[in-house]
Parts: sequence; structure tokens; C-alpha cells
Amino acid sequence: MTTTVVTGANRGLGLEFVRQCLDRGDKVISGCRNPAEAKDLKALGPAEILSLDVGHEESIEQFAAAIDDHVDVLINNAGTSATNLGLERGSAGVLNAPVDLTLDLIRINGLSAASMTRGLLDCLGEGSQVANITSQIGSMVVGARFDDLPYSTSKAVMNMVTVQLASQLRDKGISVVAFHPGWVRTDMGGPQADISTEESAGGILSTLEQLGPKDSGSFLCWDGSTHPW
Ligand SMILES: NC(=O)c1ccc[n+]([C@@H]2O[C@H](COP(=O)([O-])OP(=O)(O)OC[C@H]3O[C@@H](n4cnc5c(N)ncnc54)[C@H](OP(=O)(O)O)[C@@H]3O)[C@@H](O)[C@H]2O)c1
Repeated sequence: MTTTVVTGANRGLGLEFVRQCLDRGDKVISGCRNPAEAKDLKALGPAEILSLDVGHEESIEQFAAAIDDHVDVLINNAGTSATNLGLERGSAGVLNAPVDLTLDLIRINGLSAASMTRGLLDCLGEGSQVANITSQIGSMVVGARFDDLPYSTSKAVMNMVTVQLASQLRDKGISVVAFHPGWVRTDMGGPQADISTEESAGGILSTLEQLGPKDSGSFLCWDGSTHPW
């Protein structure tokens, strides 16, 4: 049986990853900040719902320490925006964004993918996959067109974490890839976004099933196409 770990699993894309992984028969270990309030996640019935705040190292360590299964797939999905951290709309540009808040977002959206992977390293092995849910805005090519420093730099950091993990874990047979999930209809993406959570999560999971070791270190779109760095 495939064991899959999903972070930020209580709503949005994370909840849909859990739903689809359970539908295909995976054992799912899920992490979220407030398990007691994770009504929709509980209704799906994953094997475990563990407390996890990816902005805090101790929380990541406690989450990882509670897992002793072999992990086949780790989906680093949890993420947030500068607005959610309290920044007023219109204040996120490169000429305005506060440094402390930008660093907080980099920790949550970017560095947490490294900490999660480190924490679970003993559970990962030959054939395991780490999927980092990044954003097109973290691409130097696409990000140049946006004026949102905290979010874009946080996802650029996640992209760098992805290629360095891919390089360091290649000898262990662990693959690490970054996915732009598309513009998805969630609380973060909003109701006008292009695609549903079903399409995005479904595309990412079926792409993962087709990837081999040679694909480690790739930046892909939700539909499996290559994304520019
Ligand atoms: N939607 C899009 O169009 C889009 C586009 C590009 C990339 N993405 C990325 O896709 C991922 C999923 O986004 P989404 O659209 O599903 O967003 P969402 O609906 O806002 O859900 C975000 C999830 O991340 C969790 N989270 C936030 N901060 C966390 C923390 N410090 N520790 C643990 N969990 C935390 C949230 O938990 P709480 O309920 O506790 O807040 C929630 O479960 C994110 O990494 C996002 O950056 C989304």
C-alpha cells in the first residue's frame, strides 16, 4: 500500500489531495494546524490527522517523530499569503513589502519543504517522492511580471529547496519535484480561478505516478507539462 503524507490537509488543495489519495487506496497521514477543527478532513477519514504548523520547527519535528511508516509520497502543500499574515493589500510590492513579514512567509512557504523532508528522511527511501507545491510566481521568468515580493520570494526559495534536495537525495533514490498547481479555486485562489481542486490535485497525482528518477529536480505544471524556472 502507498503511504502518502499531505500537509495543509484541512482545506483547499490539501483536502483534495487527501480525498483522491484515499480514493485510490493510499494510507494517508495528514497534517494541519488545528486537527480538532478539521471537520471536512475528519469526514474523509485519513489514517492519521496530526497537528502541524510548518512555520515552527518544533511542530515539524513533533509531526515527523509521530510517523514511523515508510513514506512513499510526501506532498508539501501547506502554504499561505502575505495577506493572511496581516499585510494590507497593495503593500506587498518590492518597493514596499516589510522584510520581517517577507522572512516569515519564506519560512512557511519555502524553507518548510526542507525541514519537512529532513524530518521525514528516515521514513523516505528508494522510490519515494517529494512533491513541493510551489507557484509559477516563484519562477524567475513568470515572477518578474508580478509585484508581490513576500509570496514570490517564498516560492522561489521552495524552488531552490527542490533542486538542492533532488541533488542531495538522488543517491538514495528519492525524487523531489516542484509543481505549479495552476490557478485553483480555493480560499487562496478565489472563485474566479481557472481550475478546480479536483483537476489540479488529480493532474499532480497522475503526473507523479508517471515520474521516474530522471525527472527528479523538475519544475512541472499540474498537468505534467514542464514549467520554466
Ligand atoms: N490556489 C491557487 O491558485 C494556488 C496557486 C499557486 C500555488 N498555490 C499553492 O498551493 C498550496 C495550497 O494552496 P490552496 O490554494 O489550497 O490554499 P488555501 O485554500 O488557502 O489552503 C492553504 C492550506 O495551507 C494551510 N496552512 C497555511 N499556513 C500553514 C502553516 N503555517 N502550517 C500548516 N499549514 C498551514 C492552511 O491551514 P489553515 O486552515 O490552518 O490556515 C490550509 O490547509 C499552497 O502552498 C499555495 O501557495 C495555490
